[in-house]
Amino acid sequence: MCGIIGYIGDRQAAPIILSGLRKLEYRGYDSAGMAVICDGKMQSEKTVGKLVELENATDEGTKIQGKMGIGHTRWATHGAPTVQNSHPHFSQDGKFAVVHNGIIENYLELRKMLTEAGFTFVSDTDTEVVPQLLQHFYNGDMFETVSKVVGMLRGAYALGIISTHDPDRIYAVRKGSPLIVGLGDGANFIASDIPAILSRTRRVYLLEEGEFAILSKDKVDIVDADKKVIHKQVYEVDWDVDAAQKDGYEYYMLKEIMEQPRAMKDTMGPRLNGNDVVMSELSMPESYYKNLSKIFIVACGSAYHVGLVGKYVLEDLARVPVEVDLASEFRYRNPIIQPGDLVIIISQSGETLDTLEALRDAKKQGARILSIVNVKGSSIARESDDVLYTHAGPEIAVATTKAYSTQMDILFLLGLYLARVRGQITSAQEQELVEELKTIPDKVQAFLKDVSGLEKLAKQHKSVRDVFFIGRGIDYAIALEGSLKLKEISYIHSEAYAAGELKHGTISLIEDGTLVIALATQQKLFEKTLSNIKEVKSRGATVIAVVMEGHTEVEKEADVTIYIPKTMEVFAGALEVIPLQVLAYYISYHKGLDVDKPRNLAKSVTVE
Ligand code: AGP
Repeated sequence: MCGIIGYIGDRQAAPIILSGLRKLEYRGYDSAGMAVICDGKMQSEKTVGKLVELENATDEGTKIQGKMGIGHTRWATHGAPTVQNSHPHFSQDGKFAVVHNGIIENYLELRKMLTEAGFTFVSDTDTEVVPQLLQHFYNGDMFETVSKVVGMLRGAYALGIISTHDPDRIYAVRKGSPLIVGLGDGANFIASDIPAILSRTRRVYLLEEGEFAILSKDKVDIVDADKKVIHKQVYEVDWDVDAAQKDGYEYYMLKEIMEQPRAMKDTMGPRLNGNDVVMSELSMPESYYKNLSKIFIVACGSAYHVGLVGKYVLEDLARVPVEVDLASEFRYRNPIIQPGDLVIIISQSGETLDTLEALRDAKKQGARILSIVNVKGSSIARESDDVLYTHAGPEIAVATTKAYSTQMDILFLLGLYLARVRGQITSAQEQELVEELKTIPDKVQAFLKDVSGLEKLAKQHKSVRDVFFIGRGIDYAIALEGSLKLKEISYIHSEAYAAGELKHGTISLIEDGTLVIALATQQKLFEKTLSNIKEVKSRGATVIAVVMEGHTEVEKEADVTIYIPKTMEVFAGALEVIPLQVLAYYISYHKGLDVDKPRNLAKSVTVE
């Protein structure tokens, strides 16, 4: 996620912008920049890498004079981390500067319209269309222009805008990405979140969707798109900086669990045009995918688990054979790869050495590499033929949640795309599937609205010694992830088992009080999983069932039933994993463990 800061007041802006950007470093970034207006002139500096580069380039801000300006730390989504792609972005005439957090989904069509109108672009970013649009539509009224341009944007954005046309005001607006206004003495601020300005003021306006802010040094107006004044409550911040960086959550993991709906929308939005899947990042022609005879999916840990979901989805929808491997195994089993086979590499960090080496081995054997990665410009991304980036933003907690979920979203989209080009589904079927897929983020949001019941259940079972997760089909792939989540942050031993496999030995471990979490969302397998629940119940197990709303019959067998919103079973994994993440989180939390930094683990395993 990018970081935004803006200042207008009686003091030099540049040093204040730099100190604000320093407070935003925890959000993760790959470049930084600022723009300041002094005596009607726009000045700017942009650098790649850590903030110290920008501090050095501006001599700690002293080289840039001026008492109003905006700054930005960029987490790359569109376009590699380069100076040209870093923010602020400028209009061709240099009179508008913009910083942005979020994704403008319709930027390609806007860029095309502007290019046809004679504009040239210097970056690969979606953001650059905004200052160009402001120049193109500027009519002498700054707010009117800003409101008109914002009305043309589709997607999620928090924007900070300054212009030499109106050097005594900063304009800001939010839709989908957070933005706050800080109220100082003889100065006012905008920022992506509270830590950036907490050392300057504790009085803020929390902008809501579609709200605009117009800041001068001694006045702030909050208005709607028609410039109708909105009367806002001043929020007095009583957090310390550390808590503020977690948005008030105790741990990043819970914050990242709650960010999943936004991350899913940011990941799927740019790849959907109405109800059509758009895979413009794939460089091979459709014929290549039409004639594909095999796909390998290779990854580690949770990325491997989501790869298993991918197998079920891609084989079910696109009817292409999929083999899923642990990267550390794949490398040494002498896999049979034909030149042109597709190898999908999944990695949040893009730096996992087992996975990177597997990529290199597959490439040596002539495979085409498509990677699904969260960190722009990471090693795995750089060595792939094609990359489908998840737009989950930086994931700080060691236990992955939002990156895992957005990887799954990309596999859903890829499955639909392959199914279409391989003639396995009709356009009408694609429309229907995409229509449902688009509802998933809001269904996750609805489920996460109240997790108090899950916290209570977690507290009840926090001292359990052994847990079994069972499921069939996609439910089994999710059971593996639920088991890993619990193990890695609560240190409780657990196993995931294909529900049909229990009777082949492991069921001998089930005894009075053994906790079994049974996943049963797959309609065609529901009865069979229900009988597995009966099997373990009859041996004394305590069963927590996870089913789709409506399956109340399971309450006769299970001790506790967790209902997830109804959806097509091919997408059920995106929903049923959520309660497992939350349960693991609260068990770890109530055991008093460091949820974000579990013992023995690293966020990215760069050793074999
Ligand atoms: C996930 O919760 C784990 N921390 C771990 O299994 C992780 O998924 C695995 O190490 C792979 O990491 P990557 O996605 O960055 O390659």
